[in-house]
Order: sequence, then structure tokens, then C-alpha cells
Amino acid sequence: MKNQSASLMVIFGATGDLAQRMLLPSLYGLLRDGLMNDQLRILGTARSELDQAGFRELVSAALSRGVPQAELDPAVVDQLLQRMDYFPASLGDDTSMRALTDRISDMRDGVIVYHLSTAPRFYAPICELLGRAGLADGGTRVLLEKPIGHDLASAIEINDGVTRHFDEERVFRVDHYLGKEGVQNLLSLRFGNALFEPLWNTRRVEQVQITVAETVGVEGRGDYYDHSGAMRDMLQNHLLQLLCLTAMEPPARFEPGSVRNEKLKVLRSLRPIGASDAGINSVAGQYTAGAVNGEAVPGYREELGRDSDTETFVALRAHIDNWRWSGVPFYLRTGKRMSRRCTEIYIQFRAVPHSIFAGAGAKTEPNALLIQLQPEERISLTLMSKTPGLDRDGLRLSQVALDLDLHDAFEDQRRRLAYERLYLDAIEGNGTLFVRRDETEAAWEWVDGIFQGWRAAGYAPKNYQAGSWGPGSAVALTERHGHSWRE
Ligand code: BG6
Repeated sequence: MKNQSASLMVIFGATGDLAQRMLLPSLYGLLRDGLMNDQLRILGTARSELDQAGFRELVSAALSRGVPQAELDPAVVDQLLQRMDYFPASLGDDTSMRALTDRISDMRDGVIVYHLSTAPRFYAPICELLGRAGLADGGTRVLLEKPIGHDLASAIEINDGVTRHFDEERVFRVDHYLGKEGVQNLLSLRFGNALFEPLWNTRRVEQVQITVAETVGVEGRGDYYDHSGAMRDMLQNHLLQLLCLTAMEPPARFEPGSVRNEKLKVLRSLRPIGASDAGINSVAGQYTAGAVNGEAVPGYREELGRDSDTETFVALRAHIDNWRWSGVPFYLRTGKRMSRRCTEIYIQFRAVPHSIFAGAGAKTEPNALLIQLQPEERISLTLMSKTPGLDRDGLRLSQVALDLDLHDAFEDQRRRLAYERLYLDAIEGNGTLFVRRDETEAAWEWVDGIFQGWRAAGYAPKNYQAGSWGPGSAVALTERHGHSWRE
């Protein structure tokens, strides 16, 4: 059953924001390109009391919004609707849940994939219910959305509840960043080229920066976000996964066990940030009113409609205490309402050991590799080059970039939503791009330590103006060590 394709996908939370923005358009993309197996049926469930027609309307509207007009084919929309059913059920209501499990049993015709796109507190109860109904056997898999819990203790509780019914190898923890083309390419760049590996260590690397900056605010998700904040919503998962892929040792093979083992070693090598250094190695911020892309936007508290100490920005100076990375700072930063949207990994190499040009007055800058994942995928290597001329007033050197725009390089390939790949992998039973239990828990353990440090130090988020790069103390975090954020 392990790698057998699923014939039924059950989406819990099928009317929610994630489903409408990402999941339904991804299913459409798979069907349109002939990647969905012929048997697959999709059952959506949520609390909303919709009938079949109402759900189909919701799906059609979501596809019109979420799929570019030029790619929307009414015939494919129709085929997708034919494969979809909806069954309203509410977790607090045993009768409706029993009716739901009866419906799933009736529809069953092989392997089932469940996607729990609900609040994490429902994961264990849903799995319990499926287990009791005999619907969590070896022919089933379950996808869980991040964040798994709120801290280490709640993550363990949820993971225990889920794995009581689904063995770990049938649990697929989603981090949608792992499904992004640019993130995949990070692996290809590192392990498909011989060029970088000799440079990828403390002898050659001066500092690494990982930035995930967003221009959006909390987008009507205030209730969720205010309990979560930037650290739990983004850093504990997306940024730490990017850190793992950047810093891990080469796995022996591109398969789930090998890749996850290497990521776990990175997480377990992270130097704790606690009460004694939280004020030096971490910065939390919250945005106030400002302007983003020329438009005035309210502050976080105004958007939320109440007072709050939740951080909408976090920056850290992390260290990986192992042979490869000893002494190299990894600066991590993420925030909402930042100056521009970008996701990137910036690796600054060490300066030349001795400059032969110093006497001639020419300055050399260290080389740098920029791996940009969003909004465009590009790879850029900054090199020093002679500025053309006869140099009568002295030699001049300039920084130039070897620039690879991956959109141009692969312009005939459609860019896919992260969930297209993740759904396809889950339907086919391939867990390489999903997060294992021990990874999530190791990430929580490290992040919990930072929260404890903040609490012990009575640390509260610093204000930053919407449309900026975060609080001034984030600048000090790097400059104190002779580094500057790439902006
Ligand atoms: C989600 C977070 O996991 O990632 C959101 O919950 C965030 O708050 C989103 O906006 C960012 O994803 P992407 O793919 O737009 O970079």
C-alpha cells in the first residue's frame, strides 16, 4: 500500500481560506495537466451547511479567483466538479461525524489521503474518530498543515494523538515552502554542481542571511495570527526548513529518510538562544501604520482591532555548532508589512586573504551568492571585475553579477503552485518533501527556548513602521558584528 496511488482524498476544512486560495487551484492544475489518476475522487468537509450545488459554486468561484484566466478551461472545471463531493460535519457533533465516516467508508475504493486543513487542535480528535471508524488502516495517509501545535508540549500531544492511529510513515506534515520550485532548486544547486561544495563551509563563508519578507498584513486572519505571531507562523517552520536545506550535509540519496536525517542534524546543532542572549541575538517587532508600495496601511493593532503584544517581525542571529559551520552567523528574518516581498538566501563569502590591489587604491568586496526564491527565481553570483579604462588615475574594480533568471531560462515551463507537487506526492505516497515528527519537535524545542528567553527578560516587540525593514534593533543585530542586511 505504501506507494499505491490514492483513489479518495478527503479535505477537512474544504471551505476555508487555504482551500480556496491554494488547494482547489492545485487540484485543478493537476487535473488539467493529466496528472491526476483517473480514479481519484475528492470529498470536501467543513462545518458550513452547504449542499452539493452550494459547494460546487464555492469551488468554481475559488478557481476563477485562484487560476489565471488564460489557464482556466471550463471543461476541466466541470470535470473537477464531477469528481468532487461535499459533506458538512462538525467535530462537536457526534451524529454528523458518524455520518461523515459512514460516507467515507461508502466512497472507499482503495487508498485514502486525508488532508487536515483545520486548526491543529482538531488533528488528534479527527484522527481518533477515523481510527475508531476503521478508517486509519495501512491503506490511508494523513496530511497535516503547519503549525503543528503552539510549542513543544502541544506538538508532542498532537503528534501522539495522530500517530496513535497513523504510523509515522503515513503522516505527511506539510510545509508548503518545501513544495516551491525555488526551494527544490536549492537542492539541485547544492548537490547537482561540484562547484559550490568546496566553498560551503566556515573556511569560505563569512555569513548567511535568510529573509522571508512579506508586504501583506494579517489579511483577515487576525484571530489565528494573534495567537501565533511571526515566530510560530513562519520562523519555526518555513525559515528553519530553508536553513536546514542550506546548511545540511549532502544526503546519500534523494529519498525521505536520508534528506530528513540530514535536516534533523542541523536542527539539533542549533545553539540555544536563551535568557542570557535573547536581547543580543534576537529582535521581535510589530508594525505600526505606514505605507507599503505607496499605499497607506494601518498598524497591526488597528488591523486587529485590539491591543496586542504579538510579534509580526522576528530577526535572529543563529549559530550551527558543528564542524562545517562553526563561527558562521546565520541571520534569519521574517516580517509582515515589510518594504517589499522577497524570499532569499544570501551567502557572503570571506574576503580575499590578501589584496594585491590595495597599493593601487582599488578596493575588493567579498563575493556573494544570492538565491532568490520569490517573487522571481534567480541566482546571482557577485564577482569583482576591473572597471574598463586606462587606469591613469589608478586601478578601479567594480562588483558585477553573474545573473541567472530561471523564469527566462525555463520560460516554456509552467510555474506550479507548491500544493500541486505536494498533493501529487501525497497521493502517490512519496514523503520526501514532508516534515518528520522529530524535525518539527526539534524546531519547537529551539524556538521555545527563545520565547522563554523573551519572557525571562520581559522582552516586548519593538515598533517598526509598515513599509520598512523592521525595527532599528534588527539593523544593530548584524552591524554589531560588522555585517549588513541585504536590502
Ligand atoms: C503561511 C503563513 O504559512 O505562509 C502566512 O501562515 C504567510 O502568514 C504565508 O503569508 C506565506 O507564503 P508564501 O507562499 O506567500 O510565501
